[in-house]
Amino acid sequence: MTLMPHDVKPPDHDVEPHVAHNYSPIPVTAASAEGGWITDVHGKRHLDCLGAYSAVNFGHRHPRIVAAALEQIERVTLTSRAFRSDRLEPFCAALAELCGKEMVLPMNTGAEAVESAIKVARKWGYDVKGVPDGRATIIVAGGNFHGRTTTIISFSDDPDARNGFGPYTPGFVRVPYGDVESLAAAIDETTVGVLVEPIQGEAGIIVPPDDYLPRVRALCTAADVLLIADEIQSGLGRTGRTFALEHWGVEPDVYLLGKALGGGIVPVSAVVANSDILGVLHPGQHGSTFGGNPLAAAIGHTVVDMLAEGTWQRRATDLGNHLHTRLGEFVGHGVIATRGLGLWAGIDLDPALGTGKDFCLRLAEHGVLAKDTHGSTLRLAPPLVITVPEIDWAVDRFAEVLHG
Ligand SMILES: Cc1ncc(COP(=O)(O)O)c(C=O)c1O
Repeated sequence: MTLMPHDVKPPDHDVEPHVAHNYSPIPVTAASAEGGWITDVHGKRHLDCLGAYSAVNFGHRHPRIVAAALEQIERVTLTSRAFRSDRLEPFCAALAELCGKEMVLPMNTGAEAVESAIKVARKWGYDVKGVPDGRATIIVAGGNFHGRTTTIISFSDDPDARNGFGPYTPGFVRVPYGDVESLAAAIDETTVGVLVEPIQGEAGIIVPPDDYLPRVRALCTAADVLLIADEIQSGLGRTGRTFALEHWGVEPDVYLLGKALGGGIVPVSAVVANSDILGVLHPGQHGSTFGGNPLAAAIGHTVVDMLAEGTWQRRATDLGNHLHTRLGEFVGHGVIATRGLGLWAGIDLDPALGTGKDFCLRLAEHGVLAKDTHGSTLRLAPPLVITVPEIDWAVDRFAEVLHG
């Protein structure tokens, strides 16, 4: 069958005339949510198979995270970094330990963590590596997605993200993802960092060739270049490991974390590295009024404690195996390929069936919320609280839409 564009619902600008049109949401209006389920304003329940792009890894309103948040709300929520809070150092110590690093730079959104890491890498390049002032370059990968700020879209190759927003920030070199030779050729004496998603999320859950990340690590070490791993979407349990890089036994110099670190409640992000790297920042050189606030720190600390137990990672592995096995049934039957690790899956639909967006609209009518990435590729990232029967239910709905 061919999926026709979904035209029964009114256009977004009629529904939300006062909301800027920088998104094109699936027409489901959430009123409440719990665990893996979102209930809309009409009382219909939907299984959330997107998990807010991995920000809801622990499910909606996880009781332990909600309890930590409520307890903190009753004490103190915001001091700015002008004063200390009794929450920040314990949170940073716990997160640093989870990462096997020494220091944490707390921020809010993922894009802020990326921006912060760019500043840190440049400063490290000048202060420690000895790159001439103003000449630092950072190598990035084709198909990257690291956020939406002016600097970050400057090194994107997605026309929607980039076009119309110049002039662009210089200092970046883009090479094809997964291509070690191109990366090696791009490194020179001005290179201070390689910024990479271990698995590219927005590009369609692209898992690189097996030798790619270990060889990138070796190149960075040999050339005295910081390996900066953007684990904002791939990290914190999603792929069956605390960090996706663990699948290849690779340790970066800098971790970028976000999304799930905020427990599905508030934006919490972080740059995590050793003190010889993060120590290049001195008072006044970087900051954020909300970064590391007591509420964020209480929530982030709870998330770190939950991950330190290891059960979420095992759950993502086991349930992910089930999900990938089930999705494999469709290859050659309306699905061209499936990919992913843990509870993270990219599904390339046969383009003859329509766009990924059309497919997601149909899925939503069947009670499953998912999101397309580009073209005919679908992304599934359900909260890690999802159960085997729920996965089966969602896959059965997927089959109905595919074969309906
Ligand atoms: C890998 C990666 N980095 C950074 C970001 C930006 O995070 P945020 O939307 O919180 O700014 C995203 C968001 O999808 C992401 O997937």
